[in-house]
Amino acid sequence: MRITAIETISALFKGPANTVGVDVGSYALKVIYLAGAAPKYTIAGWGYLPLEIETSFEQSQAELKGIYASKLSMFLNQNRALPKEATTGIDGPSLIVRTISIPRLAYQELTKTIGFEAEPFLPVNINDCEIGFHIVGPSKDDPKKMDVLIAAVKKDYIESKIALLNDASLRTVVADANAFALYNAYETVSNPSEIVVILNVGASVTNMVLVDNMTVKMVRDLAYGGIEFTKNIQRQMTVDFNGAENLKMAHGILVSGDDKERTLADDKKEALGVSMALNNSTKMLVGDIHRFLEFYLGQNPDAVFSRILLSGGTAGLPNLAAYVAKETNIPTEIFNPIARCEGANLIPEKFQPSLATAFGLAMRREKDHLATGKKVAAVAAKKSK
Ligand SMILES: Nc1ncnc2c1ncn2[C@@H]1O[C@H](COP(=O)(O)OP(=O)(O)OP(=O)(O)O)[C@@H](O)[C@H]1O
Ligand SMILES: [Mg+2]
Repeated sequence: MRITAIETISALFKGPANTVGVDVGSYALKVIYLAGAAPKYTIAGWGYLPLEIETSFEQSQAELKGIYASKLSMFLNQNRALPKEATTGIDGPSLIVRTISIPRLAYQELTKTIGFEAEPFLPVNINDCEIGFHIVGPSKDDPKKMDVLIAAVKKDYIESKIALLNDASLRTVVADANAFALYNAYETVSNPSEIVVILNVGASVTNMVLVDNMTVKMVRDLAYGGIEFTKNIQRQMTVDFNGAENLKMAHGILVSGDDKERTLADDKKEALGVSMALNNSTKMLVGDIHRFLEFYLGQNPDAVFSRILLSGGTAGLPNLAAYVAKETNIPTEIFNPIARCEGANLIPEKFQPSLATAFGLAMRREKDHLATGKKVAAVAAKKSK
């Protein structure tokens, strides 16, 4: 088995980016290319390529791959200055991220034994996976041990992503967990001593990343996103999928009692109906955030959460940030790290929060795993043929 472990370099070592970040989502494919160096990047190229079919999960994977590959090819033909090397992201059920506690080893030694160390903790056949890791630090309970964040991804899943990019004549040089790309993006707007939760609520996946003192401590991917929100509106308001999408984006959720009463008084039944239809989805999301926070508090009872950062397309849902803030009692804001980059003004604001992952991916460069960074891990790098 070939094990590839790569470490993300810290901002200090981040040189000029030379790969295109490609985030293949189930709603839209996002591309970012950066010039300059951390922490002050310039957006040198960007693309937002929506799939534009009703419910992507009803199509076969081959069809989806074909649609995206041709859209990406067309985009690259119109943007010939972009490099042909790409970093792409992985998340969802095919990715497993765990923190394990193992006897202390040097980084180099662990690159040789990570498969053996990780195997007991993974519910999958290790021969079917690529594995990456990051040494978090000494274990709290046993100083002879250290905590290691491991990430395993099914080889066939990573290969299918690489094949899609290949079809568009892009060579994948790094495959990173989307959660870690979000962390990289966060580094450019971070506040060093804080504990934050970064949420990326997409169409069918939601990434949750807990960062404490500039270290990724916990990662969880939820198997739902904005499509679930839309389907609830579709079911409860008897409209078609596109109609439900429009209602969702137009009204979002009503948060305060005042808002609800005003809406009732103004006889805006539609807005009220949408908010009620979204109740199940928003409750489910907040429930998952609570469980995530509580798990961390169980191990770190003194932890105080400073902020929740909301990215992904669903961050645009009107009032979602206010709702999450109210339900968690934690200040919640839209996470838009791109806004600080030169050239961001050319990207429509409504797309910006959904480009956070592509932005973090674009910060990676081929061979950056050769640098000995210490902050965070990436998953697996694999060269395409
Ligand atoms: N203004 C908005 N209000 C509410 N929802 C929105 C808004 N804009 C986009 N969305 C929703 O965001 C989702 C798309 O987000 P995003 O582009 O992050 O997903 P993706 O990365 O393609 O999907 P995946 O979950 O597979 O990663 C869709 O469900 C879409 O309906
Ligand atoms: Mg996504």
